[in-house]
Amino acid sequence: GAIGKDGYRHYMEKELHEHPVVIGQTLQRLIDPATRRVVLPDLPFDLASVPRAVITACGSAFYAGMIGRYWLESVARIPVDIDVASEMRYRDPPLTPGGMGLLISQSGETADTLAALRGMRAHRQHIVSVLNVEQSTIARESDVVLGTAAGPEISVASTKAFTAQLSVLACLAIAAGRRRGVVSPDQEQALVASLLDLPSRAGEVFDQADAIRRMAAVIAGARDVLYLGRGSSFPVALEGALKLKEVSYIHAEAYAAGEMKHGPISLIDQTVPIVATAPSGRLFEKTLSNLQEARARGGRLLVFTDTQGAERLRGIAEIVVAIPTVDEFTAPVLQTIPVQMLAYEVALLKGTDVDQPRNLAKSVTVE
Ligand code: G6P
Repeated sequence: GAIGKDGYRHYMEKELHEHPVVIGQTLQRLIDPATRRVVLPDLPFDLASVPRAVITACGSAFYAGMIGRYWLESVARIPVDIDVASEMRYRDPPLTPGGMGLLISQSGETADTLAALRGMRAHRQHIVSVLNVEQSTIARESDVVLGTAAGPEISVASTKAFTAQLSVLACLAIAAGRRRGVVSPDQEQALVASLLDLPSRAGEVFDQADAIRRMAAVIAGARDVLYLGRGSSFPVALEGALKLKEVSYIHAEAYAAGEMKHGPISLIDQTVPIVATAPSGRLFEKTLSNLQEARARGGRLLVFTDTQGAERLRGIAEIVVAIPTVDEFTAPVLQTIPVQMLAYEVALLKGTDVDQPRNLAKSVTVE
């Protein structure tokens, strides 16, 4: 193909290393460098009066949408409904006309996402799509396209498109919050500053490659893996489990950490490693206590955190990966990177066809 691997062994490895650049390029499109304010393309509707947002997508894009939901709710105070597109297209939920239908797709061609879009349009929703391929079917049928500057993604398992999608969704939440009068100019400056800090912090994540490889050695010997996270770290856990399944063929399941006691806790023993995402912040202590429960039952803990959370975890976790501490708002963007790196390293150990995993397609254009 026209796009090379630039010396990397796989496209997935190359694309993982593109996270910092892709986040930076995507933010550049939406943040005015002079005023450091979010500037969206003109919208044919007013974010101030949108009664509700409905988010839908498939695969990794859906998990990006889940993080987008947290942001639209907590930053912009917009009520949000969300579902995978294959469910949304048949759910027929009651939608107030004038709501925002938010679609997320790398390819812009996913059949279920397109069908869900058409359903939303029939209910007179304003269609906003977050797309990497801007010449695509979903783009043509949208009212507004918010582009992700991820560049071509060749690896079937999505990596860099995810952080680019998050960059757009974060900006959308800030712009909506401002328009709705719930984000003050000072708050906007702080949120934007934490976004603009991401490319360089993302670059530092790669310093943790050795510790991530040690985690991979544990995972490669397992048949089942449990991923845990709370709040905006829960979708990160879901993305980690999906990526591991896709490229290593190891069964993985992600759970909201607080829900562990309602089932998966019975799985925990030496043979089922637990991968947790626990950045410092409001929910850190809650996740920590879930991890202590897992440890008490003999679970092997592999934990992604930040430099601020690391000390508290070293006593209970077998391996701790501490990436830079950032604002709680942007933490899920950064925490996604090592979780995806882990899946890649496990795939290398398992010797799978990393860029073309069996049975998967890059773009699923049939139902
Ligand atoms: C396929 C890919 C996934 C992707 C999903 C949605 O299943 O293997 O990596 O997340 O489709 O694709 P889209 O192009 O809509 O983001």
